[in-house]
Amino acid sequence: MKTTICGLLVPMAILVSGSATAKDEKAVAMLESRSGSTVTGKVTFAQHGGKVSMKVVVNGLTPRTHAIHLHEKGDCSAPDAASAGGHWNPSSEDHGKWEHAPFHHGDIGNLVADAKGKAEMHLESAIWTIGDGKPSDILGHAVIDHAKEDDFTTQPTGNAGGRVACGVIERPK
Ligand code: CU
Ligand code: ZN
Repeated sequence: MKTTICGLLVPMAILVSGSATAKDEKAVAMLESRSGSTVTGKVTFAQHGGKVSMKVVVNGLTPRTHAIHLHEKGDCSAPDAASAGGHWNPSSEDHGKWEHAPFHHGDIGNLVADAKGKAEMHLESAIWTIGDGKPSDILGHAVIDHAKEDDFTTQPTGNAGGRVACGVIERPK
């Protein structure tokens, strides 16, 4: 009987301590084509202490500037990605420019695709977290790339046009 109880308790203790180490949390969003585009990509996130770093690699874009946002719902099922809802906005602010208040937590800004249609971006954020279940938690939201650039002023979308790629932010598999 004692052996059975110990056998149950040890794995539970490992699970609890594992979820407490937020600094090592990682997340990924695999971008799939939407709205008839050929855009694909990968976005990786990692938490280091109080900051989350984000690395974006996207291919298949038209060579121009494209908005990239985090959207509210982790649902890319619609052919036009409308299922992902509006910009992720846990602080209930107006749409705007990254780290220039007011702005949405999902208002990353713009990517510039080169002549081959490739775009890369890297940033660090102190307003995001991974896997802590707080309003700042990026898990379960979606990364969206748009057909046009974000003008940072049009409410609530930045007038960024259609949604050419979508990926749900998940724990790495
Ligand atoms: Cu968007
Ligand atoms: Zn926004």
